[in-house]
Amino acid sequence: MSMQDQYQITEEPFYYPSGNEITLYEAAYQGRLPVMLKGPTGCGKTRFVEYMAWKLKKPLISVACNEDMTASDLVGRFLLEKDGTRWQDGPLTVASRIGAICYLDEVVEARQDTTVVIHPLTDHRRVLPLDKKGELVVAHPDFQIVISYNPGYQSLMKDLKQSTKQRFTALDFDYPSEEIETNIVCKESNLDIEQSKKLVHIAQRARNLKGHGLDEGISTRLLVYAGTLIKAGISPIEASKMALVCPITDDPDIRATLNNAVEMIFG
Ligand SMILES: Nc1ncnc2c1ncn2[C@@H]1O[C@H](COP(=O)(O)OP(=O)(O)O)[C@@H](O)[C@H]1O
Ligand SMILES: [Mg+2]
Repeated sequence: MSMQDQYQITEEPFYYPSGNEITLYEAAYQGRLPVMLKGPTGCGKTRFVEYMAWKLKKPLISVACNEDMTASDLVGRFLLEKDGTRWQDGPLTVASRIGAICYLDEVVEARQDTTVVIHPLTDHRRVLPLDKKGELVVAHPDFQIVISYNPGYQSLMKDLKQSTKQRFTALDFDYPSEEIETNIVCKESNLDIEQSKKLVHIAQRARNLKGHGLDEGISTRLLVYAGTLIKAGISPIEASKMALVCPITDDPDIRATLNNAVEMIFG
């Protein structure tokens, strides 16, 4: 199996668009412009990039970024072996070589000295210097870089530098409208429309609490979890507490408020 095949998405991912993001992304891809997907966790950013990679028939290499990640984790490193050392390409290097879409998920989590390694790939040079190896990789014509970014986590300590931000076009993501989100929950968990809508109503209540004790609302992902639990035979109230209330807060007052909403809606 070739590298390209290994990272190719063969089955169409289910993605329900909220606006013209597919058209906008296609135009950005045509110009191989770097794209930043901005929005809260669990609102469809990863699913969108999977869908776009499938639609454009390009391989997709995803990297979940974290604060312990180093530049070598992205570009590669020498590995010690019995009879010497062997260079191993990191995911960013592989993507540059094979012409994949490279998706760096939650890039703010990575340290800034890690983030800067993507800079030469984002401008007209489209190159990746492998300093330790002494090689300059010229990116494959199909290569594109996509990052995700959650503005909610933004703090002075943890934010992208302007010099990084200004290398990307950006698409705003948010929780879908009630009708679309109901359809997503229904499709992803096989729960019926009526109950899916009730789950969405609980999320809407919680999203109103954002900034009033909640850092982040209930995500579409959690609604799908709740639907999955209900389909597995758990009562809607218990499923909602397990998937929608417990994960997002430990504050007893907020939990009580949310549990109330759950009981009102499913009671
Ligand atoms: N627009 C959408 N179309 C289809 N599924 C969606 C959509 N938005 C969210 N989902 C569902 O929510 C889950 C979480 O979405 P994901 O793309 O992983 O979120 P993010 O990357 O923004 O954190 C997906 O696995 C999918 O079940
Ligand atoms: Mg994601």
